[in-house]
Amino acid sequence: MRKIGVLTSGGDAPGMNAAVMSIARSAALYGMPLVGIKRGYNGLLRKSTSIYDDMEDLHLDTVLDIADRPGTYLRTARCMEFHDPAWREVAANTLRAMEIDGLVVIGGDGSFHGAEYLCQLGIPCIGIPGTIDNDLPYTEMTLGYDTAVNVCVEAVRSIRATSRSHDRPAVVEVMGRHCGDIALTTAVSTGAEIVLVPEVPWKVEDVAARLNRLIAKGNTRATIVVAEGCWESMEPFDMYTYLNTHGKRCYEGEPISAVRFASIMKRMCGNVEARATVIGYTQRGAEPTARDSAFAFEAGNLAVRLLRDGISNQVIGMKEGKVFYMSIDEALRSERSFNRELYNLVNSL
Ligand code: F6P
Repeated sequence: MRKIGVLTSGGDAPGMNAAVMSIARSAALYGMPLVGIKRGYNGLLRKSTSIYDDMEDLHLDTVLDIADRPGTYLRTARCMEFHDPAWREVAANTLRAMEIDGLVVIGGDGSFHGAEYLCQLGIPCIGIPGTIDNDLPYTEMTLGYDTAVNVCVEAVRSIRATSRSHDRPAVVEVMGRHCGDIALTTAVSTGAEIVLVPEVPWKVEDVAARLNRLIAKGNTRATIVVAEGCWESMEPFDMYTYLNTHGKRCYEGEPISAVRFASIMKRMCGNVEARATVIGYTQRGAEPTARDSAFAFEAGNLAVRLLRDGISNQVIGMKEGKVFYMSIDEALRSERSFNRELYNLVNSL
């Protein structure tokens, strides 16, 4: 194996740049030229007028400077074309034409599926789990998760200070797509009183009853941490009728949100001034924590060593605190589990 490529794909995640930096250092050490591919798999589809829009030789000088920077230097994107075998063939041909003998893909499960397809077309690939969501069950951590949780914890602590000052409950929405890990760890780390996640069904009326109980016991500043995916596990609730009959204009078909949910809690809990905060992209665009950066550094090095040694079709992960690798296929088939005991404990007040 001579030249290798690297791309970042899916949502950006803190630690992606650190992984690229480690890959560049390792490639330099083993005498392997490195090419950065821009905007995920899109950079392989030859849609740009100039190859320089899609690829860049990654020299150490450039890359050494980016490790601690948030975002991803290579840019990132989701690539719908990769669902189509014809486009995957284009991507594989681009790699062959550029004499790129192996590829490191930093991204989540969709990106790993893409890597698996390329392996089937004869392009050796290694995956590094890069997503804040922590939704890849084969690994104990994904790049960016630790940072995202730390951002949320800092935000919730500030929100709780203001909640306490004003005797107001707070609804705080965190990311995670269909995974409640960011929400649960944030709740556990901040002492939040209620957490709602996509993994566990819940009812609006029950949450209001619990909030009312907390208020009756003197806790007027409870925090409800909601995972963005928790609306999918909410039992049907006619928000339109409820809000319109309780003094708040609401439009038919409007989706529920943290802001709407806070309005409902206010009306169900004696007009308490519940406020909503959506933490949003500050979770993705944050500087990586030491834990994420260190994982990125080790994972990047292992990815290059695997390609150098002719091993491919693998993803890198963390097990019992150690970096390891396993086949993409097996990793994608691992079953998710959710820490229900911890969830019950948070919600037991
Ligand atoms: O996968 C990372 C993530 O931030 C999810 O938590 C979220 O559901 C999604 O990406 C949002 O994607 P976008 O930024 O494209 O709206």
